[in-house]
Amino acid sequence: MKKKLAIHHRPGSFSDQWIDYCEQQDISYKIVNCYENDIIDQVKGYRGLMWHISHILPQDILIGKQVMFALEQAGMQTFPNFKTMWHFDDKVGQKYLLEAIDAPFIDTYVFFNKKDALEWANKTEFPKVFKLRGGSGSGNVKLVRSNKDARKLIRKAFGKGFKQRDAYSDIRERIRKYRKGLGDLKLLTGGFYRLFKNHDYEDVKGIEKGYVYFQDFIPGNNYDIRVIVIDDKAFAIKRMVRENDFRASGSGMLHYGKENFDNKIINVAFETSKKLQTQSFAVDFVIHNGKPLVVEMSYGFPNKNFIEGCIGYWDEDLNFYEGDFNPYGWMVNQVIG
Ligand SMILES: Nc1ncnc2c1ncn2[C@@H]1O[C@H](COP(=O)(O)OP(=O)(O)OP(=O)(O)O)[C@@H](O)[C@H]1O
Ligand SMILES: [Mg+2]
Repeated sequence: MKKKLAIHHRPGSFSDQWIDYCEQQDISYKIVNCYENDIIDQVKGYRGLMWHISHILPQDILIGKQVMFALEQAGMQTFPNFKTMWHFDDKVGQKYLLEAIDAPFIDTYVFFNKKDALEWANKTEFPKVFKLRGGSGSGNVKLVRSNKDARKLIRKAFGKGFKQRDAYSDIRERIRKYRKGLGDLKLLTGGFYRLFKNHDYEDVKGIEKGYVYFQDFIPGNNYDIRVIVIDDKAFAIKRMVRENDFRASGSGMLHYGKENFDNKIINVAFETSKKLQTQSFAVDFVIHNGKPLVVEMSYGFPNKNFIEGCIGYWDEDLNFYEGDFNPYGWMVNQVIG
């Protein structure tokens, strides 16, 4: 019989809850370190491997997908698997995937040369939304009000490029959080330090250049809705936009009551996740003429605090089950079958 489960443990990540769940359910597991050279050997004979891969840890960026996809191709159950993760932290990849499955996705434009991008900018309407392919918490998302602004971004994209993180937006955001009581003094002072010092992941990922990404701006949304589908169950979070802004993600202003979530949105999330065959699908929606449109997606989401306020979950028939639930356990169940 195959041994059960190997878990890459990073305190503060999903692995905390995976381990708790295995303990509670008497599921045999061993903790591994996927950064070790002989990791493949270490997990031989195991049924599955789980690793909460991060988009801001250098090692995870360098070998997360490679280790996991190698093992999956060799027949192991993994979380996250290929269909769940290949497009993680890659809004450019997501554009093609969401178009390919005919998802209700906001019209999105990606260019790989300056001439095409400039020609498009001359003809299109504004505002648009500019994004880098990676990033979270709205950090790399900007409103582009005019052709002139777009041309500036296009020239930069095909010139010196963009850093992974805009340190000045970062510090402004930390000041906002501090003022609102959403962040402590450490978060604030850390921002000043980070004006001068890159995070290691920024140096590993390097400069973003050679492409430019724009999306139609969907006006009139003072929130976005994030739905998370795991193992045919869904839960949702409403995120309010920041003051004098259009961006919700990272605002820290969250609502969980069931009245915030239209069945239509939950249903589109289920349908899209089904088409994509994902193990874990966190998808952001805004509303356009009464219809939910996908903004972007991710297999991951902030651990614990972010979803602690959820009061229940839906099944695929949109029945709602009020009470505590354990989405981290749902992840484990999908791997061990
Ligand atoms: N095309 C758009 N039209 C209107 N609002 C948008 C659009 N794209 C993004 N937004 C708003 O900006 C926020 C951030 O955008 P997006 O989710 O693409 O970035 P992100 O930094 O990857 O966020 P996350 O932390 O959710 O991964 C969204 O939460 C939404 O409120
Ligand atoms: Mg988002």
